[in-house]
Amino acid sequence: MPDPMRPRASLRTAVVWDVLQDALDRRVKATGRESLDVLDTGGGSGNFAVPVARLGHRVTVVDPSPNALFALERRAAEAEVADRVRGVQGDTHGLFDVVGRGGYDAVLCHGVLEYVDDPAEGVRNAVAALRPEGVLSLLAAGLGGAVLARALAGHFTEARQALGDPDGRWGDGDPVPHRFTAEQLAGLVEGAGLRVGAVHGVRVFADLVPGVLVDTEPGALEALLKLEETAAALPAFHAVATQLHVLGEAQGAAGA
Ligand SMILES: C[S@@+](CC[C@H](N)C(=O)[O-])C[C@H]1O[C@@H](n2cnc3c(N)ncnc32)[C@H](O)[C@@H]1O
Repeated sequence: MPDPMRPRASLRTAVVWDVLQDALDRRVKATGRESLDVLDTGGGSGNFAVPVARLGHRVTVVDPSPNALFALERRAAEAEVADRVRGVQGDTHGLFDVVGRGGYDAVLCHGVLEYVDDPAEGVRNAVAALRPEGVLSLLAAGLGGAVLARALAGHFTEARQALGDPDGRWGDGDPVPHRFTAEQLAGLVEGAGLRVGAVHGVRVFADLVPGVLVDTEPGALEALLKLEETAAALPAFHAVATQLHVLGEAQGAAGA
């Protein structure tokens, strides 16, 4: 989703957006329906929900934050997709208090698993919201990216602490409750009954490169985006990505 108005933001979203858009296109072809039902659990102010609605899909965003839901409503109106975006206050733990089971062609769970008390339950609930052949898009903080970032900032003890911590936290001051390896995320997806489709590393280099290099060198942003795109699919780079994206697909469904 390269955004010409916010070029740096593209570095955070481009890889995930490409994979997600492709997965949605495949559901459109498989179902024969142009407009899919999409659930964005922890969808916040609509970073993904609004662009998904702009593709013509109906998106339900569940989020505990009234402020985020208010921002979502405004953003959806600005993008002229208010009729296809519904915000509901709730959380992944009590997901079925606010949405139905088994009603969605795709469920997005982006940047949320880090904050829920029980990540396995969070993934199980996201999967239980899917229709039988539906697809799960899971994005969560990567352990290795955080270790690398702490070490490069000179916080060597914190980097080592994160490596040995079961939740991948670097200390009491760490604002992120859980980080994951690609293997852990794959285990959560499989534990919820799906098979693991495409796995991508997100922001492998972007958070480590001094902003001045990207902002002042002509063509640098585009070159970095291409580098991120190429590295994202290579398992060797998953170990050091800031975030990890995993597609969960129905057992027996055609792969990415
Ligand atoms: C980092 S933001 C990600 C927002 C959006 N998914 C995105 O990718 O831009 C995390 C979001 O998760 C929401 N959140 C926190 N705890 C949650 C929970 N237990 N269930 C669902 N959403 C939660 C927050 O309100 C916030 O909007």
